[in-house]
Formats: sequence, structure tokens, C-alpha cells
Amino acid sequence: MIDINSTLEPIVIDNGSITMKVGLGGEDSPYSTFPTVVGKEQAKEINQKEIKLKETFVGKQALKRSGILSTQSPIKNGIIENWEAMEEIWNYICFDLFGEPINEVKVLLTESIFNPKENREKTAEIWFETFNTQIFYLVPSNILQVYSFGNSSGTSINSGANTSMCFINEGRIIKGSCDQLDIGGDDVTQFLQELLVLKGLEFKTYKDLQTLENLKKCLSFYVVDDPNKLLQEKEKANKIVRSYELKDGQRISLGMERFVCTELFFQPKEEIIDLFGLKLSENEKENEKELENEKEQEKEKEKENEKEKEKEKEKEKENEKEKEEETVFKRKTKKEMLNLPRMIYKNAQNIDLELRKTLLSNIILSGGNTNFGGIEKRLSNELKLLINENCPQFRFPSSTFPSKYMAWVGGSIFASLGHYVNSWMYKELYEESGVQCVHTLLNHFI
Ligand SMILES: Nc1ncnc2c1ncn2[C@@H]1O[C@H](COP(=O)(O)OP(=O)(O)OP(=O)(O)O)[C@@H](O)[C@H]1O
Ligand SMILES: [Mg+2]
Repeated sequence: MIDINSTLEPIVIDNGSITMKVGLGGEDSPYSTFPTVVGKEQAKEINQKEIKLKETFVGKQALKRSGILSTQSPIKNGIIENWEAMEEIWNYICFDLFGEPINEVKVLLTESIFNPKENREKTAEIWFETFNTQIFYLVPSNILQVYSFGNSSGTSINSGANTSMCFINEGRIIKGSCDQLDIGGDDVTQFLQELLVLKGLEFKTYKDLQTLENLKKCLSFYVVDDPNKLLQEKEKANKIVRSYELKDGQRISLGMERFVCTELFFQPKEEIIDLFGLKLSENEKENEKELENEKEQEKEKEKENEKEKEKEKEKEKENEKEKEEETVFKRKTKKEMLNLPRMIYKNAQNIDLELRKTLLSNIILSGGNTNFGGIEKRLSNELKLLINENCPQFRFPSSTFPSKYMAWVGGSIFASLGHYVNSWMYKELYEESGVQCVHTLLNHFI
């Protein structure tokens, strides 16, 4: 256990949408990682005089009790949306995680490159006002991922809850090179779940879903060549079958599901379904029909609800548009987001040829979804087909750290670099100049 109050190092928090990574600057790995989830008990009246206080659970403790708690994930695709839940998580870090409350809070936090200005201000305000932070820093996680390799230039790809990218030159993000793809780890898990339903396997409870996560992490991979070829060559296709022992001792075999679920980063789901002929069998169709009838009635109800929701969404969209205008790096429109290699290719076109070659020879892959085997080879192959002018070399440096910890490791390195100390945001500055000065932190990276 760390003696949190005897260290001078700041806490480094990689505020992931799916997983929080928390530890001390200068360390090699995070002290703790836990799901970015908060669960709250409903307030209960025990008798007329006594009302049981609502208890809050964070991380795994919340997920374990998801059946009886109302759970919330405060961050959606890198952007904090539920501030109350986010504060509960930060509160847990400051008061419980290290076994004792932190007396003097110094914190380095990661943020998305698409973080709206308004969110950046609110984050700083909460840390200074609620947690009485003395020193504060917010750094885009894509920058830190490149730092974790001891580099200051490269192509940063982060794939966690979704997939974002930007080109970084000499420590600065190249404007107009930031983009994101709305595909992430949960999409892969969900697709795998759908594929396994076709095999009669269902994953519903918390434990089941944990098994599914493990199954995905242990057995899935990216196909290196055209995935269709793999299926045509039967011998190869048989070689990829692996069995996995479930907790109850039952063994299940996974074949093409192992790579079909990760194809989402390379092709639209509908095309994958067509390509692999993922059709239900006749029996299953009968069952499906019965289920569908039941569902029809539910759908009618849902439709009515949806109409109302759509109206709300329209309003939200308008608000979002306004917010997007306030981000430093503009998000691209959905139409432009095709797949991972295309996203890299499209954004590379905006960069000078020589610099492009340099940056593409240092592609930094980080985030949980880059752990699946085969990603470097597959991406290289696809990029070669797209970018052929003067044949740039696509290189992917390898790291000793797990890719999902890259942003945290970069933060840890950053926090321990003496020459940045002067640029941190101190409480005195916040009190003198107001929360606006949080934006100057970003000036070091653009
Ligand atoms: N070893 C692994 N192999 C494959 N997938 C993994 C592995 N470890 C984690 N993942 C998946 O990666 C995802 C989480 O990745 P990560 O921790 O990088 O996201 P995050 O930092 O919380 O999100 P973001 O950076 O997008 O806000 C989950 O969907 C998880 O299932
Ligand atoms: Mg992350």
C-alpha cells in the first residue's frame, strides 16, 4: 500500500470512459484500475422515523450489485456527461482508494481531445473547489500515449470506449488531424455476444458478462489478411477453433467468432453479417418468430416512447452542435467516419508529405482494443492499399506496458518531468485569475 500523504508526487488519473486508472506520478503502473461506474442504493424507509441513507458504490462493487442498484457510467466516449457520478468517483479516489484521505491533493487528469471548453472549466472548478486541489493539470490522453514511448512525434490511435486519433508533431497536436470512430470495446463485446447467441449461448448476469469479457480478451484477434480468404481455406479456418472452459466446467468452442467481432473496426456491421452469411437456422427462426410477436407489442409501446425521445434528441443535437463549436479540435461528421484505416488515411491527406511519412512510421496504438493480436499487420496491409504514394513505412513501436495503460504511463512520466512544474495550474492562480486559465494548459500541446 502507498503512503499517500508522505509523497510529493501528484496522483495521475486516466479518466477512462470504461476503466479508471489511478496511481502516483513516477511509478511504472497504476496503483488501481476499476470500472468507471457508480451504483446508488434507492433511499429506503425502514420505519416512519428512520430512513436508511443511500449508499454509493464505485467500480466493481457497483457492478456486482447492479441488480439492486441504479448504476451510472459518467463518461461517454471520453466526455463527462454525468457530473454527480463523476464526482462520486473522484471522491472515492481522494478519500478511500489509498486507505486514507489525501491531505494535499495534487492531480494530473487526462481528457479527450474533443473535450468541450465548458467541461474543461467545470472539471478544474470541481477539483479546486470540492477537493481543494493545490496543483492541477489536464492533458489530452493522445499526447500522453505518445509520451509513454518517450516520443514527441507520431500518429496517436486510442481505442477504448471509442476510437480516436490525431497526428502529433514535436509535442503538439496538428489541428485538423483529430478524428474519431464510434466503435469501441463494448461494441466488440456486444457483437461477440450476438454471435454466441447463434450458438445457443447466453450471457445475462454480471458473472456471465464477466466471462464474456474474458472470453473476448483471451480468444479474439484481428485477421491479418482479407477475412474472406480465411474462410475459403477450410484447413486454416479449422486451425482457429479454440475451446474455452466456463466457470461451471462447460467447454465452448469459438471459431470464426474470434475474428468476426473485431472486424467492426474494418467494415460496417451489416457488411460483416453479409460477408460471413450470419443467418439464423430454420429452428431458431421459428423461435425467433414467437419471440418477435411478443416483442412486436412491446415495440408499439416503445415507438410511442421513442417519438417523445426523438423530440428530446433533436433538442440535444442542437445543444451538441453548439458545444462542438466550443471544442478546440473539431469532430468530423459521422459520414466521414468509415473505418480505422480510412480514418487514418483521410486525416493523413491534410499533412505535408514528408511529415506524413515520418508520423506514419511511428504509429502509437493504445487502449484496450489494440491488445487483440494482429492489429499492426492488418492495419499496415490496409494502409498500404490506401496510401501508396512514395510507399511510406508503417511502423508500430512496441512497448513493455499494456496498451490500455499507455495514457496513464505517459501521465506518470509527464508528472515527474521537472521542467513542466512551472506550467501546472496552482490554486493561487485559480483564485486570482479564475477558472478560464485552465485553457492555457492546452497551449503547451497545440
Ligand atoms: N487484453 C485485452 N484484450 C482485448 N480487449 C481488452 C483487453 N483489455 C481491455 N480490453 C477492452 O478495452 C476496453 C477498455 O479499454 P480502455 O481501458 O483503453 O478504455 P478507456 O480508457 O476506459 O476508454 P476511453 O479512453 O475511450 O475513454 C474494454 O472494452 C475492454 O473489454
Ligand atoms: Mg483511455
